[in-house]
Amino acid sequence: MLSPVMRERVFGIAFVRDSGNKVSPKRAEARYVCQACGFTSTRWIGKCPGCQGWNTLVEERMAPAGPRRGSAGKPAEIAWLDSVPDSATGRISTGIGEFYRVLGGGLVPASFVLIGGDPGIGKSTILLQAAGHLSASVPPVLYVSAEESPGQVKLRASRVGVPGTGMAILAETHMESVEEAVRRLNPSVVVIDSIQTLWTEGMASAPGSVAQVRECAGQLLRLAKTGGSSFLVVCHVTKDGMLAGPKTLEHLADCVLSFEGDRHHVYRMLRAVKNRFGSTNELGVFEMTGAGLKEVPSLGDLFLPTYDKPVPGRAVAACMEGSRPLLLEVQALVGSAAYGMPQRRSQGVDNNRLAILVAVLEKRAGLHLSSSDVFLNVAGGLLVEEPAVDLACALAVVSAFRDRPLARMALMGEVGLGGEVRPVLNLERRMEEAARMGFTRQVIPAANRKSLPAVPQGVEVEGVEDLGEAIKCALS
Ligand code: TYD
Ligand code: MG
Repeated sequence: MLSPVMRERVFGIAFVRDSGNKVSPKRAEARYVCQACGFTSTRWIGKCPGCQGWNTLVEERMAPAGPRRGSAGKPAEIAWLDSVPDSATGRISTGIGEFYRVLGGGLVPASFVLIGGDPGIGKSTILLQAAGHLSASVPPVLYVSAEESPGQVKLRASRVGVPGTGMAILAETHMESVEEAVRRLNPSVVVIDSIQTLWTEGMASAPGSVAQVRECAGQLLRLAKTGGSSFLVVCHVTKDGMLAGPKTLEHLADCVLSFEGDRHHVYRMLRAVKNRFGSTNELGVFEMTGAGLKEVPSLGDLFLPTYDKPVPGRAVAACMEGSRPLLLEVQALVGSAAYGMPQRRSQGVDNNRLAILVAVLEKRAGLHLSSSDVFLNVAGGLLVEEPAVDLACALAVVSAFRDRPLARMALMGEVGLGGEVRPVLNLERRMEEAARMGFTRQVIPAANRKSLPAVPQGVEVEGVEDLGEAIKCALS
């Protein structure tokens, strides 16, 4: 005897319990599925009986009875991999180089790209600019503006210098109308701004709800894969920076891009969180100007100190942002802990990483930090995740603690728990960039020093084994 839930899964029939607790078969139009454990119910329940999670059930539309879509009924098509045409050649990449680099070298036809970011960060602006370039090279492009009127889009287009030839605009929130328009126009690229404002007829819930967003995304994806248009879709983010909507949204998208930066600063960073067609390490940097977003192709001295006065607690790290080397300034402040527990706080570097570095400095380099507050900051609002920044962080703390400025030098190296300085990847590219930015003194891990084929001209390189050596070398 199958349970009602299993029977529903097997036969597609929902068993609705009425108040008399009798089970009667009835064809259900909607059902509610738990996002965490897959528990299915015919009505919405606040707490899932399967996994005890709260608010995890979302509405799901049942497929209408009749023949199912797909290749059922006819033999499935099998293709030999070597005879499948290479789609990399078909990538579209015109106009905004930084945007296409983050996408992995261009927009892949029939792909589905999600772009998330805080309100006002510039999602609509970058997509309008991209649509402007695309409409000139691969017309037509359809811009579905579900948030703004055509007049508002036109205003922005004139501001950023997009003439709009070959670009169709549709101010619509009704999913089925959008679908019909896409089928009629057959555009090469469709921009949806934003998915949270779309709603589909088959769903009773409000636009922006998890069920609506998931259903609309599913329909858009089907449209992309069957019609061949690429979709660039804006998706709002929640307060903690995650894409708003179901997690499945990220699974079904080919690329998930995140637009970051401080609204009050001019620089904006575009980063790939997921990319089926390229690396997720790339970072695109833009500058918000009065006439839209401008690319910043060379990061140069963007994140470097802007004044030359020696100040204790500042160190320069040579990092890699994706495939590009980047020099950035790490700032530390060490003060006596006035209230109870000493604090270790960091911005731009993981807090746990700072706590570990402080512990290593105490134990292996003899710094007495147990009664001091330590604050660390990466200048420019950048978030650094790679371990090669460790050495610069540690030396910035030492410099702040001893109140002695470091000499002008570029630092690279990972710090181990034993105080050893461990080798880093892409050392040559870091050193070249540091030399280009005028850092003639560079401190690198000794292990890298041995295998280094060539040192850039006029650069003095010091290989260090451990923190003690690095401190001696930097403060001498
Ligand atoms: P927008 O693209 O509307 O942000 P989002 O779609 O992510 O919410 O960008 C909004 C901000 O950008 C707004 O505060 C104004 C500013 N901006 C400029 O500074 N210059 C420009 O040329 C444009 C179009 C916008
Ligand atoms: Mg917008």
